[in-house]
Amino acid sequence: MEVKQISIREAKKRIKSDPELSKMLVKSGWREITLDLDGDGVADVAFASEKLGRKIDTIAIDLSGNGEFNLYLHDFDGNGIPDTVYLVEDGSDEISAIAFGSEVELGFINLGVKVANLLVAEDFLNKELGLSLADLNEYMKKYAAVMLSEIEKREEAQGIDKVYYFLKDAQTYYLATIDGDKPRVRPFGTILLHDGRLYIQTGRKKAVSKQISENPSVEICADMGDRWLRISCQLVEDDDHDIKVEMLEQMPSLKLMYSADDDNMQMFYLKDAKATFCSFTSEPEEIDF
Ligand SMILES: Cc1cc2nc3c(=O)[nH]c(=O)nc-3n(C[C@H](O)[C@H](O)[C@H](O)COP(=O)(O)O)c2cc1C
Repeated sequence: MEVKQISIREAKKRIKSDPELSKMLVKSGWREITLDLDGDGVADVAFASEKLGRKIDTIAIDLSGNGEFNLYLHDFDGNGIPDTVYLVEDGSDEISAIAFGSEVELGFINLGVKVANLLVAEDFLNKELGLSLADLNEYMKKYAAVMLSEIEKREEAQGIDKVYYFLKDAQTYYLATIDGDKPRVRPFGTILLHDGRLYIQTGRKKAVSKQISENPSVEICADMGDRWLRISCQLVEDDDHDIKVEMLEQMPSLKLMYSADDDNMQMFYLKDAKATFCSFTSEPEEIDF
């Protein structure tokens, strides 16, 4: 099964030029389109792009019929084929949840639950993205196994692996540097675990890069649900070409801005790191690496 990889802008154009589809348009933003397929006044399907790319890479479908999206198909590697399914509990007893992540209980997807909504959605999915319900089902079966193994990896992760998965799943973390005697903080998302080292990526041209070269002491903070992680560490530059290539492969949207051979792309690994996992309900857990 392949999802046609079209841009949000292109999809918006198509929707707006088709009178039937444009009636369904609930909302369209820079990186999101929401459609009310059955005309009941609540949105049934949403297409979204990743933060750095502009291609559709997440399709969210409302299985509950109450306008909240609880099934997400997400294309992490940007190859046009969603590789993760999230089915989030909607509070009813009917749907059990399968999710890529640790916060949702595991179970089995019961697609029969709200088929009516999906049947209306199918026509659109079919026409615009070449997806059918059978594809969807097939896809879910195939990837459930992969997802379960990903979840197991996260549940079993210790030490630096645990830190890596948290930053990866949080998607955005905040990197604080020191600029003379002033703190500076900004959102970051790049993360790579390579040979037992945790790497982040930036551009040499950025102020953040200059601040790190003058003072490599930084802090990183990320949160997910009711947990958060703070890492205090030194950053060490690593100019290894293979590591840059691996970073670009893991986060292909970076290729829009960087290449392993430009003079700009820069990789740093975390050294002398003290990572602290915190939550409102349990004692802090410290990991040094
Ligand atoms: C969600 C998100 C993730 C980002 N990830 C990165 C990243 O991993 N590396 C990077 O250099 N910039 C990243 N940026 C962009 C930086 O936040 C931005 O370039 C910032 O201005 C850099 O800090 P500076 O202005 O102090 O140099 C990201 C921005 C957002 C919104």
